[in-house]
Amino acid sequence: MSETLENLLSEDRQFPPPADFAANANVTAAAYDEAAADRLAFWAKQAQRLDWFQEWDQVLDWSNPPFAKWFVGGTLNVAYNCLDRHLAAGNGDKVAIHWEGEPGDSRAITYADLHAEVCRAANTLTDLGVTAGDRVAIYLPMIPEAAVAMLACARIGATHSVVFGGFSKDALSGRIKDASAKVVITADGGFRRGNPSALKPTVDEAVAECPTIEKVLVVRRTGQDVDWTEGRDLWWHETVATASDKHEAQPFDAEHPLFILYTSGTTAKPKGILHTTGGYLTQASYTHHAVFDLKPETDVYWCTADIGWVTGHSYIVYGPLSNGATQVMYEGTPDTPHRGRFWEIVQKYGVTILYTAPTAIRTFAKWGDDIPAQFDLSSLRLLGSVGEPINPEAWMWYREHIGGGRTPVVDTWWQTETGAIMISPLPGVTACKPGSAMGPLPGIAADVVNDAGQIVGNGGGGYLVLNEPWPSMLRTIWGDDQRFIDTYWSRFAEHGYYFAGDGAKKDDDGALWLLGRVDDVMLVSGHNISTTEVESALVSHPAVAESAVVGATDPTTGQAVVAFVILKGNASASEAELKDHVAKTLGPICKPRQIQFVSELPKTRSGKIMRRLLKDIAEKRALGDVTTLQDAGVMQLIQQGMSTTS
Ligand code: WT7
Repeated sequence: MSETLENLLSEDRQFPPPADFAANANVTAAAYDEAAADRLAFWAKQAQRLDWFQEWDQVLDWSNPPFAKWFVGGTLNVAYNCLDRHLAAGNGDKVAIHWEGEPGDSRAITYADLHAEVCRAANTLTDLGVTAGDRVAIYLPMIPEAAVAMLACARIGATHSVVFGGFSKDALSGRIKDASAKVVITADGGFRRGNPSALKPTVDEAVAECPTIEKVLVVRRTGQDVDWTEGRDLWWHETVATASDKHEAQPFDAEHPLFILYTSGTTAKPKGILHTTGGYLTQASYTHHAVFDLKPETDVYWCTADIGWVTGHSYIVYGPLSNGATQVMYEGTPDTPHRGRFWEIVQKYGVTILYTAPTAIRTFAKWGDDIPAQFDLSSLRLLGSVGEPINPEAWMWYREHIGGGRTPVVDTWWQTETGAIMISPLPGVTACKPGSAMGPLPGIAADVVNDAGQIVGNGGGGYLVLNEPWPSMLRTIWGDDQRFIDTYWSRFAEHGYYFAGDGAKKDDDGALWLLGRVDDVMLVSGHNISTTEVESALVSHPAVAESAVVGATDPTTGQAVVAFVILKGNASASEAELKDHVAKTLGPICKPRQIQFVSELPKTRSGKIMRRLLKDIAEKRALGDVTTLQDAGVMQLIQQGMSTTS
């Protein structure tokens, strides 16, 4: 991959932080120097952000790689750090969560409220026989009880496994079985696109296959009818609500398992990514402070992710609450009841920091500039992006139309496995280039290597690696140490690097550009071309809202570029015009063989484009596994479109 990638987008726009932002930033350039001088001392200092019952004896034990231990000998309680200590500091009356239900109901939950509810839930779980080390599955909509359930588990040392509420019965039962969970916490349902959407029936079906489940704790949210299994099922409002709100948080070892979160994996069995306590909370808390520049007294922070993804774990629950943030939590979809819902929420709560995903940003751009323009977004001072490479034009749109052309935009790269942000600008320090995650955070070592594991120079491309252990790193794959070694540590074993599975390049200034999963690289006439870059070139055409590019087998070129394109609302453009635009932007070698206009793209429930399915279409094959698809109807529409034009 190294000598190729010669047709890169050359992005020369740069956006330094506004002077007043830089002057007041939580973290300055000195942090890079400090971490470079002594990485472990740097992380030990960040760990002091937390309250420890017992301080550690050793910052990092890396004597048995790749199995890391951070803050060895230290003990702490995660819920204590997210709640009790804020009460002790006199912030009990401060709002922790401004919760907004999809139908328009809302709740303001203070730190004192949250603490009391978490204590009640911790007492309830204990009454149900859950003890430290037991696993609890959480299958909930975006309601405050989701955060309460996670914190209650953390408080008693139970390891939670949150399963996204949009997942099927098989996904749920597979995850319950893999972790041998004892209890499931769920709800009758949640609101989605204006309607109640049931969860309990899925749990009933899943649990029928899971003998380890002893109890099912059910939150009443929608009031839908539910089937009830006496002796197994319990209502939250009859148990948690009546439990004592006194609960003393116990210390747990820094390496005590905090949670398991499954990553889908395209074909194989999902991997149960295991995160532990001290290192995870240290990095979640520090990165939230550094990257989002959170001022707990004045900021209103909003991360639009679902709690079922790692983004929700680290940047709705553990990062913000450990930092005493006031945040918004929203139950529903961005287009219910109208396409301005997000901006209405920003206006209503005076949101100052917004963290969302490129897929959402491109959708908003497609819906039109006039929608956010109807709302007062002047409270916003910082925008963040996560989940996929953000195309430079989407970045510009976000800054312009949401950030009023004033706000820094931080593109944050990380993974379920990394637990917290790894590569990102610091908003008060870095001059950002639209579409680049710029560089590793202080205390993090990341680089780009070629096939042989050699670090490439500026202008080179290859594989993203993490060259040093980091506090919030996954500790293993639950129950499968060998798979942990094989998946992440064997590709560059000689060098001891963690292989992230992403392609990346360094530009001439050494800034990092993430190019998507390595499987998403095309080989056209011997040239490696990243799908991300062709997609960005297409999106830079004024008529294009979104695109997905795949490499399809081609008799002459090996692979050929095939693009699927969604045009903006009223825009029009011909196939030939877009092909020429790509050739002009990136070079003729990247010119798509074919462009298909579509109205939707197949995406996972977390918003990632499923290029694998588009490749099946481009190569005229039967579709592979579609179970992680958000909307199954999309593929049919695309197939119909293909058959009428090709
Ligand atoms: C994969 C991890 C990190 C929380 C949400 C996703 C892609 C993530 C970026 C970014 C380019 C990104 C990578 C990564 N990714 N953020 N800022 N720029 N790519 O967590 O589901 O574990 O996915 O998402 O391909 O490996 P995840």
